[in-house]
Amino acid sequence: MDKVCIIAGAASLRSIGYATAELFVEHGAKVVVTDVSMNADVLGSIKTSIEKQLQRSISIDGIQCDISKKEACDALVAEVLRLHGKIDCMVNSAGIVRSSPILEIDEKELGLMFDINLKGAFFLCQSVLEVFKSQRSGNIVNVASLAAQRGGGLVGGSHYAASKGGMLSLTRSIAREFGALGVRANAICPAMIDTPMLDGISEERLQSIVDGIPLKRIGSTREMAGACLYLASDLSGFVTGATLDVNGGTHIH
Ligand SMILES: NC(=O)c1ccc[n+]([C@@H]2O[C@H](COP(=O)([O-])OP(=O)(O)OC[C@H]3O[C@@H](n4cnc5c(N)ncnc54)[C@H](O)[C@@H]3O)[C@@H](O)[C@H]2O)c1
Repeated sequence: MDKVCIIAGAASLRSIGYATAELFVEHGAKVVVTDVSMNADVLGSIKTSIEKQLQRSISIDGIQCDISKKEACDALVAEVLRLHGKIDCMVNSAGIVRSSPILEIDEKELGLMFDINLKGAFFLCQSVLEVFKSQRSGNIVNVASLAAQRGGGLVGGSHYAASKGGMLSLTRSIAREFGALGVRANAICPAMIDTPMLDGISEERLQSIVDGIPLKRIGSTREMAGACLYLASDLSGFVTGATLDVNGGTHIH
């Protein structure tokens, strides 16, 4: 896959974003990882980890970006263009989760959730779409959540579910508005993927959730990365506005 790909939300080696970067590099992509927590040490650990996995030296760029700030998204895109001259794909896996019940969510918590998960997704999409519009090509993969489809309650609360629901609508809107330019946009709704987002769940709670999953296990970040690779590659060339479930059968509809 000879493509220039931005992958947002990749700072942790246990994250979906990192696994996606690893798989994309493995398949020949020029990857730029970004995260609010990106710095030289984080990029160094990502590079070392991928090189260990692939048993060869690799090239990868890392740029710090808080996606909730429009100027930061624009600066990220400008820097990627400076480095590579084009952008083929953007995978947005950046986000936060909180599990508070509806009546306990104050304005500050609601604002933070929407600022990062929804406005951040919007800003990042807008910034790459400026480039995609002039290139007349490009591809967006937004990592939403099962919570967008069935409501919050499993891990994230109602505000998390609402933010991810907004992300699904945003993705479908992009697919409609930019399809004629050859730009695709799809979303993935994962559930119960083994990342730091599941760290706060007790063993008993986790077991009871797993008991209800048809595949009887949680998912791996590598399995999420595979879904991202499919949507980012030409293998899915006629797929746009779609929502891909990666949930072990938790939500069959
Ligand atoms: N793990 C799961 O089971 C699961 C289920 C459903 C959805 N998701 C979604 O998958 C995505 C990836 O999550 P993960 O499980 O890999 O967890 P993660 O916490 O490892 O990854 C999320 C990353 O987003 C980054 N981030 C947070 N705010 C940011 C900001 N303002 N700007 C830029 N980066 C920011 C974090 O620093 C972190 O590295 C998230 O959007 C999450 O909502 C995960």
